[in-house]
Amino acid sequence: MNSPLLQLNAEALSEMSNSWRARLINSLPGYKSGMLVGTYESGSANLAIISSHFHLGSNPALLGMILRPDTGKGERHTLHNVLKTECWTLNGFRLDSAAQAHQTSAPYAKNVSEFSACGFDAEWRIGTDAPYVKSSPLQVGCRLREHQALNINGTHLLIGEVTALYCAADAQRDDGSLDLAKLDLATVSGLDTYSEPGKSRRFDLARVDTPLREQ
Ligand SMILES: Cc1cc2nc3c(=O)[nH]c(=O)nc-3n(C[C@H](O)[C@H](O)[C@H](O)COP(=O)(O)O)c2cc1C
Repeated sequence: MNSPLLQLNAEALSEMSNSWRARLINSLPGYKSGMLVGTYESGSANLAIISSHFHLGSNPALLGMILRPDTGKGERHTLHNVLKTECWTLNGFRLDSAAQAHQTSAPYAKNVSEFSACGFDAEWRIGTDAPYVKSSPLQVGCRLREHQALNINGTHLLIGEVTALYCAADAQRDDGSLDLAKLDLATVSGLDTYSEPGKSRRFDLARVDTPLREQ
């Protein structure tokens, strides 16, 4: 039997409880990259799961992320550290580390490192002033290039230039791209679901005058 259609308009959305609406709207961007963001400031290492990453450009190599504002109720350690040190790491993780990765979203006190609280080892690499996750199959170092507090809701846009990248060399395909399945990277949906993508299809560059070729 076909499921009935869920239909909502702006008014229905505004009448929902905050937590119901948050869970619903967080599901809408679909499957996202879940990366552990490593930062450091004044002797204290910090690690937090963030899923709002996006590609902004390849030359220079730019990645963006959106961080929630400091509301006064809770401290935003990643935001604070990035604005102070202008440096952070992105660390992919495997599905078998999802529980530890999810636990980094708990509001630990500033002097508690999520690395030790959640069972991750920190790895320092020359040239990056922030800690990587040692077990991570994909480690990316970023240096802050632009920061904007967005007028619409006070969230922070942080744009970083990729300054370092570490992963298994055999995950790189002949065309330069990475085979993320070979790295066993988990993906995130909503605020609570972690998955390992199973099926995929790849295509050549789409052109107007040539039939599309599947690889
Ligand atoms: C799956 C998932 C994705 C998240 N994505 C974001 C995000 O994109 N931006 C954000 O500000 N917080 C996000 N969070 C919430 C942070 O992980 C959480 O606020 C954390 O406590 C921040 O830690 P910090 O204060 O050490 O920076 C996410 C949480 C989960 C569970």
